[in-house]
Amino acid sequence: MDKKIVYSGIQPSGSLTIGNYIGALKNFIGLQDEYNCLYCIVDMHAITVEQDPKLLRKNTLDVLALYLAEGLDPDKSIIYIQSHVPQHAELGWMLNTIASMGQLQRMTQFKDKSKRSKEVMAGILNYPVLMAADILLYQTSYVPVGEDQRQHVELTRDLAQRFNSKYSDTFTIPDILTPKVGARIRSLQDPESKMSKSDSDENSYILILDDENAIRRKFKRAVTDSLNNFDYNDEQKALKNLINIYVSFTGESVEEVVNRYRGQGYGKFKADLADVVIEGLRPLQTRFKEIRSDKEYLEKIYTEGAEKASYLANKTLRKVYKKIGFIAK
Ligand code: AMP
Ligand code: TRP
Repeated sequence: MDKKIVYSGIQPSGSLTIGNYIGALKNFIGLQDEYNCLYCIVDMHAITVEQDPKLLRKNTLDVLALYLAEGLDPDKSIIYIQSHVPQHAELGWMLNTIASMGQLQRMTQFKDKSKRSKEVMAGILNYPVLMAADILLYQTSYVPVGEDQRQHVELTRDLAQRFNSKYSDTFTIPDILTPKVGARIRSLQDPESKMSKSDSDENSYILILDDENAIRRKFKRAVTDSLNNFDYNDEQKALKNLINIYVSFTGESVEEVVNRYRGQGYGKFKADLADVVIEGLRPLQTRFKEIRSDKEYLEKIYTEGAEKASYLANKTLRKVYKKIGFIAK
C-alpha cells in the first residue's frame, strides 16, 4: 500500500523562532520514513502582510536552508517553494467559491491580524483557503503544525467535506498532528501571547539563528513570577513555558526536570536552559551556514521539488476541474 501523505509549510516572513522549531520544524524529520512528506515554503502566504521584496527572497532561501540543515532529505521528501507551483492558487480559487465569508471572518488569526491593521486586505481573509488548497492538492492525511493552526486545519476539513459531498469523493480529509509538549510556545515577555517572529519586542522570542549571547540575555530577561516555587502548573504560566522549552530540547519528562530544580531559584534554571538551547541549536546553525552559502545546491533542490510537487498537484487539479464542469483542453 502507498504511504500516507504528510504536508506542512512555514512562511518566509522573518527569521524563525524556537516556537516554529519546537511546534513544527523539529517534528518534520521523524515523519520522513513512515510517510511521503511534502514540506513547502509558503511565500504566497507571506505576502498577506507587507514584505520587502529583497528580504522576502532572502528569507525564502533561509527557510529552505533551515529545512535542509535540520535534516529534511530531498531524496525522501518533496521540498519546494509555493509560488513555483501555481496549482496552489488555482485550487485556492475553486475553494473560495465554497468557503463562506462568515466562516472566514470567525478565524481567530483573521480577527487578530485585521484588528492590528488600518486597511484590511482580502488576502488576510482568504489566507486559510489558500492553506486548505496547499493541503488538499496532495491528498494529505496529516498536517504537522503548532496549536495556532488548529482552526485552519478544521476549516480545511470542512471545505474538503463540502466539496466531496457536492461533487463526489475527491479530497482526503486531513488530521492535525501537534507535539505533546510545545505545541504553543509562549512569548518570554508575556506568557498570555504566543512566541512570534512578528513581535515588536525582540526579548520576547529566541530565533533559531540567535547567537549564544543573545540566547543567554533573552532567557535571563524572561519574565517568571514572584512565587519562587519551582513547579509546573497553569498558575505559573511563564515558568511552565520555560520548562516546556527545556524538555522539548532535552527530551526529558517534565517530572524529571521539576525534580531536579525543585527548591532552587529560577536563576540557575534559566542559565541552564540557555545552555540547553545553545547546544541544541548549535549543529543546526553550523549546517545552516554551510548550506545557505551554496546557491547552486539550493536552486537544484527547489527546482526538483517544484517539478515533483507540480506533477502531484496536477493529478488532483484535473479531477477537480472535471467535476466542476470545466472543459478539458
Ligand atoms: P508560521 O511562522 O506562522 O509560518 O508558522 C510555522 C509553523 O510554526 C506553524 O506550524 C505554526 O503552528 C508553528 N508555530 C509558530 N509559532 C509557534 C509557537 N509560538 N509555538 C508553537 N508552534 C508555533
Ligand atoms: N498558515 C501556516 C502558518 O502560519 C503556514 C501554512 C501555509 C501551512 N500552508 C500550510 C501549514 C499548509 C501547514 C500546511 O503557520
